[in-house]
Amino acid sequence: MYTSQTASSMSVAPYPIENRLQIQDLLALSQNKQNEGSDVVSGLKQTPKSLPPKYFYDDRGSQLFEQICELPEYYLTRTETAILQECASEIASITGACEIVELGSGSSTKTRILLDAYHNLGHPLRYLPIDVSAGILETSARKLLLDYPSISVRGLVSTYELALQQLPPAQLKSRMICFIGSTLGNLTPKECDRFFAHIINALQPGEYFLLGIDLQKPKHLLEAAYNDSQGVTAQFNLNMLDHLNWRFKGNFDPNQFEHQAVYNESQSQIEIYLLCKKAQTVRLRALDLTVEFETDETILTEISRKFDLNAMRRELGARGLVPVQAWTDPNRWFGLLLCQMGFPSEDGRSPNSILGAD
Ligand code: AVJ
Repeated sequence: MYTSQTASSMSVAPYPIENRLQIQDLLALSQNKQNEGSDVVSGLKQTPKSLPPKYFYDDRGSQLFEQICELPEYYLTRTETAILQECASEIASITGACEIVELGSGSSTKTRILLDAYHNLGHPLRYLPIDVSAGILETSARKLLLDYPSISVRGLVSTYELALQQLPPAQLKSRMICFIGSTLGNLTPKECDRFFAHIINALQPGEYFLLGIDLQKPKHLLEAAYNDSQGVTAQFNLNMLDHLNWRFKGNFDPNQFEHQAVYNESQSQIEIYLLCKKAQTVRLRALDLTVEFETDETILTEISRKFDLNAMRRELGARGLVPVQAWTDPNRWFGLLLCQMGFPSEDGRSPNSILGAD
């Protein structure tokens, strides 16, 4: 772990930035490096081929994603932001003072709405952003420290699973784990199961989980959101190959691949592919991996599942994450769900609901 040092000009502030910022890189720890890239190897050896979406987010990928959020067709960020603006003060008054843990924090733009709400109620601000991109994590943490003079930030450069297993103990009386932006949609139902198990493990009874999910809607709206007219989503998808090239000493030629996004209605999921335009062999030296591609062969780089808000409420409730409140926009395009970790009942079988589900 290192504690970041800042310019001496900051030392005149009452709470110097270096005293309020810690960044820990869990991915740099040698025990976490051992099977680095094994997911790339298994994904590319499979038929059909696939790659984990976390490889979108190198520093350039994180920047491209920020650009996606501004696109006219990409309604998700805009809609969730509007919902948060409506409900943030309600969330803050329900939970009271609590430490905010955010999975996939990125630029932390939406988080500011929550931080403002807690600040306005006089609650102390303690924030634990978690992101796989070290660059965006540190840049946005430093901006927050300048804009919120009393906030303390402890960032983790980490995948979700690793971070949830190694969360430091809460320093405020409660904690809320935020997983907004519909990143849950990237997980298959099986991966979702594992993910919720990790969340439940990381939360103490009475602590909170805030989940943002994209909801089911007509195919044309969804396909437009993932095939934008400026081609930013295409760049974002193709950037994964550049990222793999530098990370694993590969020789992918992104010009040989094409972006494709289709809505699979039967599974309620957008599927994003890289289509290989002509047969070729690709080598990833650091993984000692050689991969053959046929003409028109695809790599699935992402699924983005679209959910039913009530079904999600029931699913979380059944796991002991008791739904407290849900919010949506007038079109019902996006949903936010606040849940509270139940207390184990005496027989140890079913969780106790604290506030009553539904
Ligand atoms: C960050 C996972 C929510 O699924 O909409 C945007 C990523 N991919 N455009 C999504 C993404 C293509 C995004 N999530």
